[in-house]
Amino acid sequence: AIDPQFHENRDQVDEHEGHSVWGPVDEPEELGIHGTHVAVDFDICLADGACLEDCPVDVFEWVDTPGHPESEKKADPTHEAQCIDCMLCVDVCPVDAIDVDAG
Ligand code: SF4
Ligand code: F3S
Ligand code: ZN
Repeated sequence: AIDPQFHENRDQVDEHEGHSVWGPVDEPEELGIHGTHVAVDFDICLADGACLEDCPVDVFEWVDTPGHPESEKKADPTHEAQCIDCMLCVDVCPVDAIDVDAG
């Protein structure tokens, strides 16, 4: 599961589509965590797609990740600023790849 303390345990190493990327990153096998308020651990995501289907405000978009061992696309929190903290995505992800900081 994604580490809910990732902002303390990891370093921000990059930006992507306006959100932070938390390392370590070593493409294409290791992609880190994308997003901060809505954070997706790309190294855990296996492209189930439930988060994209269920998010009521369409926070996520697919991004292609060829060569990653878990899946060749990931749910990117492109519109994390729109999140309404409903926690549906956290509940439906089968591998607990998503953390939403509703605090
Ligand atoms: Fe979307 Fe709700 Fe997840 Fe926020 S908590 S990204 S609104 S499903
Ligand atoms: Fe990935 Fe979980 Fe969404 S596996 S596509 S973050 S439901
Ligand atoms: Zn991203």
